[in-house]
Amino acid sequence: MSEDRRLVGGSNRNDDRENIALRPKYLSDIIGQDRVRENLKIIIEAAKVREEPVDHILFYGPPGLGKTSLAHVIANEMNANIRITAGPSIERAGDLAAILTHLKQYDILFIDEVHRLGRAVEEVLYPAMEDFALDIVIGKGPAAKNVRLNLPRFTVIGATTRLALLAGPLRDRFGARFRLDYYDQAAMEHIINRAASMLEVGIDELGTLEIARRSRGTPRVALRLLRRVRDFAQVRADGLINGDVAEEALALMEIDPLGLDDVDRRLLMAIIDKFSGGPVGLDTIAASISEDSSTIMDVYEPYLLQLGFLERTPRGRMATRHAYEHMGVPYHDNGSSEQPGLF
Ligand SMILES: Nc1ncnc2c1ncn2[C@@H]1O[C@H](COP(=O)(O)OP(=O)(O)OP(=O)(O)O)[C@@H](O)[C@H]1O
Ligand SMILES: [Mg+2]
Repeated sequence: MSEDRRLVGGSNRNDDRENIALRPKYLSDIIGQDRVRENLKIIIEAAKVREEPVDHILFYGPPGLGKTSLAHVIANEMNANIRITAGPSIERAGDLAAILTHLKQYDILFIDEVHRLGRAVEEVLYPAMEDFALDIVIGKGPAAKNVRLNLPRFTVIGATTRLALLAGPLRDRFGARFRLDYYDQAAMEHIINRAASMLEVGIDELGTLEIARRSRGTPRVALRLLRRVRDFAQVRADGLINGDVAEEALALMEIDPLGLDDVDRRLLMAIIDKFSGGPVGLDTIAASISEDSSTIMDVYEPYLLQLGFLERTPRGRMATRHAYEHMGVPYHDNGSSEQPGLF
């Protein structure tokens, strides 16, 4: 079956392979994030002039905004090899030591979820990042000897959705730190158009606009919605994504005009309905809608905060007037944090 489709020039690639193909390769492919791109350009050019690896770089911000893509872009621009790993998969100090001793000059070590590195692993990483050295202990007991191995000069690129969970000393060892923000509407439209043309999907201006509007300023979401709408257009329309097709497909997926999905809406309704608008603690909300609190914190909450639907107070999360309006619930100003109904 897949053979046939390949022969007729159809697509037999799965989503993952499509994702890799869509990943920007060079700085010039990066859409939006102007400040980050400009800064990276300078860092890369300066490193090239000095014939040195780039400084250690940290990217932080909500998921799907391009942290991994940027790490690949830096590697491509520097003509460097990239070694990809993630905090949770480096379990012991020895695992990291093994990775480090295999690095060559200019290599890039990408550590995703860098906030999830264990303490002992971090202790190995500090001198490696700072002095390009690996301290190892040879032997046991009184005969044990400390030996310092020199490492080639390499670059660590870290990515995290939770800057606050990163140990201070580790954060300080990244010479450049960039916060990635949600993309604006124009950048989202551009990203969707680029992906559509690479995937050879027919889409018109209104179709692009509709998907962009509901993609929560997040490229990964945009690409996912584009693929789902493409399926819909193939089955229910003549393959072309126009405004109506996009709207219908997205409505079927229960993505509302602001890009909120079922979980977002349940979350807002829980705060509004069960907790009189808040303030209510994150864990309580999570339990009441049977979602994982770290998923809420990483994935859902940042966008709701950005929309101004949620407010974080020392006593918990509160739904704002905008959230009530969006959910179609009459808003009662209960003096912000007083909840007369509860006590
Ligand atoms: N600036 C951009 N221009 C074009 N496409 C982009 C851009 N940023 C990201 N993308 C696309 O969005 C997808 C998601 O990006 P990426 O995997 O880099 O996100 P991430 O920040 O690493 O997410 P996570 O935190 O979940 O790992 C990629 O497949 C890429 O094609
Ligand atoms: Mg990533």
